[in-house]
Amino acid sequence: MKGKRIAVLFDNPEASSERGPTWEQCGDMEEAARAVRTALESLGAEAIPIVIRQNDYGFVDELREAKADLIFNLSDSLFGESQYEPTLAGILETLGMPFTGAGSRGLSLALDKGVAKAILRSHGLATPEGGAVYPGEEAIKTLPLPAMVKPSAEDGSIGIATDSVVRTKEALDERVRYIWENYRQPALVERYVEGREINVALWGNGDSLLPLPPSEIDFSEFPEGLPKVVTLNAKWTEGSPEYEGTRPVCPAEVSPDLLEKINGTALKAFRIFHLHDFGRVDFRVDQEGRPYVIDVNPNPDISPDAGFSRATAVVGYDYPATLGEIGRLALERFDTR
Ligand SMILES: Nc1ncnc2c1ncn2[C@@H]1O[C@H](COP(=O)(O)OP(=O)(O)O)[C@@H](O)[C@H]1O
Ligand SMILES: [Mg+2]
Repeated sequence: MKGKRIAVLFDNPEASSERGPTWEQCGDMEEAARAVRTALESLGAEAIPIVIRQNDYGFVDELREAKADLIFNLSDSLFGESQYEPTLAGILETLGMPFTGAGSRGLSLALDKGVAKAILRSHGLATPEGGAVYPGEEAIKTLPLPAMVKPSAEDGSIGIATDSVVRTKEALDERVRYIWENYRQPALVERYVEGREINVALWGNGDSLLPLPPSEIDFSEFPEGLPKVVTLNAKWTEGSPEYEGTRPVCPAEVSPDLLEKINGTALKAFRIFHLHDFGRVDFRVDQEGRPYVIDVNPNPDISPDAGFSRATAVVGYDYPATLGEIGRLALERFDTR
């Protein structure tokens, strides 16, 4: 990354409409972007902040004017809407500038959990049975209870609470309605897999694609009597019982047999979803030790304290080196296209 000009792109609907931010003007929301900046600068690169303001396409001109070697794409939304995440990648594709992470195609496929499930299944990869359900529709008749009900096109545990695990048909219908009313999208209803939660981060492209050491969510301190799921609070509300009760452990202790299964599945999922540079595949493992894919994540969180950086640290990459490698992978990919 030495000597490279890197545009650090992020979406901030709350940013003021004033043009041309300096890093000092970025505000609290961009902690992750600041961490990326510090890391890139420590590698000898120049980091240029490009903020996407609400309903403002000025970022396109700013990107062009920046004449950057690479865009570090830190946005998981466009104008605050997660459904436009693939659209933003599409805009970057039309600009013809190298950018990190998945393109519009990979993001679209993975963002729709119902579609993702069908793709996984068609490739013979195990995923809990289920599918997308609209309110008033009969949920999949053969689906055993308890079931998991989640928004079909969100991320970051949005819409996930301990109430997402339903044990009766009435509770299931109620939660499907709740998802519709709050998120205006069908619910993804699937078998609730009781058991370990393990995820596999990967990086690379093509033949260089490599799984990183698996990580496990340790639920041993999770509040008694509640289903063990990574809820919105567990992910984001520091100090809450759910947050404190979901401790990530990397590397996870897994048998060679389980490791082979999850790594093989994660590699295949990365490829069939057209992910680029880095990604993460989430599993639940049932009582018989069978892993099921519950989530395919293009562009997972690469904050210094996120799971991805924890996994790369285990194989000897500190935070700057992790970002350097992601940048290198993206540049290499655009070079050989
Ligand atoms: N079928 C399932 N069985 C058990 N737990 C699940 C299932 N689906 C989701 N979960 C729990 O809910 C969390 C969030 O679900 P996930 O599909 O990964 O959504 P997100 O895209 O928001 O991360 C998971 O980390 C897991 O704890
Ligand atoms: Mg997930």
